Amino acid sequence: MHIKSAEFVVSNSDVAKCPKSMLPEYAFIGRSNVGKSSLINMLTGRKSLAKTSGRPGKTQLINHFLINKNWHLVDLPGYGYARVSKSAKKVFQKFITQYFALREQLVTAFVLVDIRHQPQPIDLEFMQWLGEHSIPFSIIFTKADKLKPRAIENHVEAYKTVLLETWEDMPDYYITSSTKDIGKDDVLKYIDALNKNMELG
Ligand code: GTP
Ligand code: MG
Repeated sequence: MHIKSAEFVVSNSDVAKCPKSMLPEYAFIGRSNVGKSSLINMLTGRKSLAKTSGRPGKTQLINHFLINKNWHLVDLPGYGYARVSKSAKKVFQKFITQYFALREQLVTAFVLVDIRHQPQPIDLEFMQWLGEHSIPFSIIFTKADKLKPRAIENHVEAYKTVLLETWEDMPDYYITSSTKDIGKDDVLKYIDALNKNMELG
């Protein structure tokens, strides 16, 4: 899919104020610093569409981007990061939860996980929560440029092993690097197919 246009629409902390249009949308979620905003820039080919930072906690709001005038990408704050207290770490910001629970336009979520790390409880719990709320999701492994191919394979296998302890099937997953443009075509192809499905109703 060719990205002809990508525009920032609105930021807010209230799902009720998100765009009213029923355009299909795709949201990126995951721990702070995992690379959600960078991935949006990589997918759209716009270097600074979404704001990124080396310090966790950069994205603080629900950010809608209109792509090709007919679908939305949504950049969300990360979970697992709290400047305030350690105990708050496990509490997903209320509006993130509300976004997923209430946003009817959401076609699928992409849960981002850093390919270098072992499966983390907070990510597994979030996937569990999505499952319990019947919210479809795929996994996007990020920062693949940081590992050699063999290590990538091993880490994905380890992830599969853990997920298959609770999930019947491994969710769809994509291996990406925003710095090396890895996985771009696969993710865009998937979104394109889902968009076409939506049009067919
Ligand atoms: P929050 O908004 O704080 O939740 O973070 P985020 O998930 O949006 O992460 P962001 O895109 O801001 O990236 C965090 C850091 O990781 C930045 O320093 C990026 O340059 C770096 N980064 C993101 N993606 C990649 C990648 O694919 N490879 C490498 N090497 N670094 C990356
Ligand atoms: Mg961000």
